[in-house]
Amino acid sequence: MTLEDVVRARRSTRKFLSDRPVPRHLLDEALELAMRAPSNSNTQPWHLYLATGARRDRLATALLAAVDENPPVIRSAGLPPRFADRRAESGALVYGAMGIARDDAVGRWAAQRRNWEFFGAPVAGVVCMHREFADVDALGVGMFLQTLLLALTDRGLGSCVQVSIALYPDVLRAQLGIPDELRVLCGLSIGYADPAFPANHLDVPRNPVVENVVSLES
Ligand SMILES: Cc1cc2nc3c(=O)[nH]c(=O)nc-3n(C[C@H](O)[C@H](O)[C@H](O)COP(=O)(O)O)c2cc1C
Repeated sequence: MTLEDVVRARRSTRKFLSDRPVPRHLLDEALELAMRAPSNSNTQPWHLYLATGARRDRLATALLAAVDENPPVIRSAGLPPRFADRRAESGALVYGAMGIARDDAVGRWAAQRRNWEFFGAPVAGVVCMHREFADVDALGVGMFLQTLLLALTDRGLGSCVQVSIALYPDVLRAQLGIPDELRVLCGLSIGYADPAFPANHLDVPRNPVVENVVSLES
């Protein structure tokens, strides 16, 4: 694939083939490429924890138990309308592709809850950054992440970045031994996408460039 093909082919996967493992060499190649990402003063501020096998299963079980005991507060109320609208639009698209009606609160929650089982992905990731780093360093973590997603896409692998996972940092720390000096930023599911799941084929629309980019000439 060309770079353009890879960028266009990447999308968030929300159902993985849980019985198809990710070959370690593909993961290692993608990680090695992602390490090439730029960062402020080459600080390379990203830290990624990856859990597979029994560790992944224990992590998902512990997360689901925490979610059921203490359901998440989904952040949307505080968003300005234009961003809240985007959230609602993409939610409608994703849940629509899963066949869940707008007013089906039970169906929606069941689908959302699958976040904390990493959508069945055999590789469960948690992305962290040292507490002393500032916002600008989070940009470096984002560059690492996108490079990783593209490298995974190029190798036929699906992925989903998940802020939902970061809502339960204590569970992540206990299950993965993440030290206090690291801030948990998000989760990351990796595996082979289930091709039979229509929501895995969504092409979520983007703004026209002029809405986000100001070009000034004189
Ligand atoms: C920082 C970040 C956090 C996200 N958190 C979640 C999440 O918790 N659950 C989820 O299903 N998707 C999550 N996503 C995926 C976005 O919904 C998705 O990237 C967006 O709707 C565009 O769709 P696409 O990735 O298929 O192009 C997240 C993406 C990013 C970059």
